[in-house]
Amino acid sequence: MLNQEQLTNIDKAKDILMKGGIVACPTETVYGLFASALDDDAVRSIYKIKGRPSRNPLIVHIHDINQARDFCDIDDIQYDTMNKAWNIYNYSVSFVLRMKDNPDVNISKLATSGLETVAVRIPMDPVANAMLKACGIPLVAPSANTSNYLSPTNHDMVVMDLGDKVPLVLDNGSSTRGLESTIIDISSGVYRILRPGVLTYSEIRSNLGINTEEYCATYENIVAPGMMKKHYSPRIPMRINAYDRKPGEALVGFGNSVPDCDFNLSKSGDLHEAARNLYATLKKIEDLGIYISIAISAIPEEGVGIAINDRLRRGSAPSEPADQITIERCKPYV
Ligand code: TXA
Ligand code: MG
Repeated sequence: MLNQEQLTNIDKAKDILMKGGIVACPTETVYGLFASALDDDAVRSIYKIKGRPSRNPLIVHIHDINQARDFCDIDDIQYDTMNKAWNIYNYSVSFVLRMKDNPDVNISKLATSGLETVAVRIPMDPVANAMLKACGIPLVAPSANTSNYLSPTNHDMVVMDLGDKVPLVLDNGSSTRGLESTIIDISSGVYRILRPGVLTYSEIRSNLGINTEEYCATYENIVAPGMMKKHYSPRIPMRINAYDRKPGEALVGFGNSVPDCDFNLSKSGDLHEAARNLYATLKKIEDLGIYISIAISAIPEEGVGIAINDRLRRGSAPSEPADQITIERCKPYV
């Protein structure tokens, strides 16, 4: 149930968005920076606000599968997969589809970086969903953070990072999933998982009937910046698989992996809870200003742990010049 303040803010958001403005809004994965997908200038401001390279395409958000038919080719098998994911299982998944040759609505070429495919997602968060319904047009939304930095999972994280650049930041508490959506490319006969999320491989296989073992394995061309090595980074250095603390480090544990840790992603060793706490914990450590770096203990490489470790590996990767961005080949997703 949405409260009165949320309903009022959704009305305000609609006004801003329909005039080509930008609004930050919660989703169940991470908070997003929303703009009309049909408006080149609005999309351009998204790239500008984030400092994001324009060759990194955005996800187009909708509230109903049939909205995607306006600009994507969708056959019965693809429809069935999307329907299961979004309407039956409420999964946080983005599907990459082929764009229609003669679309009924024109998605900005800036949003898709000129690709012939487009990533589409229905967010499960009720505020995002109501805002999309109110607008009635597809909206692009990258995570609401400065490019390469930590994705925000609550209202205050957005305000601290981009508050001076965005007129309205909607609030629905902490994101219930905490990691960006799983991205699955279903645009050709071979379905490929481009970015792991809170969905496990067994859920993808048994509930969506997608039988791909090759998570990113054959993806040679860069289309997902999540595939770049350095991404999702805190502003202070971070090292992973730590079991002790060096001077000045904040030690982050999981379960009872490191008994004297300063922060724990989940005391009970629950990977879903760890996913929900990950970005806010790293942000809190930065903001305290008393630590020079972060040491994070090993997270089990299973279930949701696969996506957590994917983000941690990228967040702890060394910085590299923008023109030498490394594409890291993902490990098989099992
Ligand atoms: O959970 C999410 O997906 C969040 C919320 C706000 O919806 N959004 C998000 O957006 O994580 P962003 O921009 O941070 O990441 C979008 C990813 C990028 O890795 C981008 O390269 C990929 O989607 N992407 C977009 N269009 C694509 C396409 N046509 N083919 C392959 N990857 C694509
Ligand atoms: Mg992002």
